[in-house]
Amino acid sequence: MKKKELKTDIIYNEDCIEGLKRIPDKSIDLVITDPPFAINFKARKMNYNRLYKNVLEGYSEIKAEDYLSFTKSWMNEIYRILKETGSAFIFSGWNNLKDILITIDELGFTTVNHIIWKYQFGVVTRRKFVTSHYHCLFICKDDRKRKFFPESRFSKKDRNENGRSMNYEDREDVWFIRREYWTNKEKTPTKLPSEIIEKILLYSSEKNDIVLDPFLGSGQVAYVSKKLSRRYIGFELVKTYFEFAQKRLKEESFNNE
Ligand SMILES: C[S@@+](CC[C@H](N)C(=O)[O-])C[C@H]1O[C@@H](n2cnc3c(N)ncnc32)[C@H](O)[C@@H]1O
Repeated sequence: MKKKELKTDIIYNEDCIEGLKRIPDKSIDLVITDPPFAINFKARKMNYNRLYKNVLEGYSEIKAEDYLSFTKSWMNEIYRILKETGSAFIFSGWNNLKDILITIDELGFTTVNHIIWKYQFGVVTRRKFVTSHYHCLFICKDDRKRKFFPESRFSKKDRNENGRSMNYEDREDVWFIRREYWTNKEKTPTKLPSEIIEKILLYSSEKNDIVLDPFLGSGQVAYVSKKLSRRYIGFELVKTYFEFAQKRLKEESFNNE
């Protein structure tokens, strides 16, 4: 019997734990995702630097005590559906990073890099240091087979004004990339900057590859994948966020203007 073609360029308003089960084994080229944090995150709190009225409510959070089993459930599916030539980039704050690291090892993924994303400005604190970084685990199933295009952004000959290799600097594992604020615009409470997604897509995928994000939020991963001629699949549990992402994809508008 002929294998059923996987439907791509589609996002689902659904719990990814259920939705991922419909994706066939070894069919996904690249996963880029930023799962919920399990830090009792509230869409309209902790965002002191912006107007609450622009932030869409409803963010679906996980309890810290359930985070390990939740992480195992969705990452187990990722292991099953990822191609051997594929890679996954999982973002995490430091709070529950250990649960992601445990799961990576338990499922048998290989860690390729532990990337630090340094952004321009964290939430100011009084009695501790300000967190202004995120972790990004670059993992795969087969380190010899995974795709990687080392000169996709800068060739080995490219030099900056100080004479340093731009290819080398771009491939260091600390990435300084500015957060996008979308001032005075409607938005979901957290989003990955398009630049970070573009960088991952260029290094670890090719045109027409299938890119998955099980936790879409604003739909950034699907949006940038589409822009770079990749196919995409995604899930978002919260209806308002799903509709926001759907609108951006349909209208091809970067921040829903
Ligand atoms: C950290 S945000 C992702 C932000 C996204 N990377 C962006 O750039 O906009 C995590 C998202 O996962 C959603 N979510 C939580 N549990 C989910 C589940 N079981 N299935 C699908 N989405 C879920 C949340 O509502 C939230 O929008």
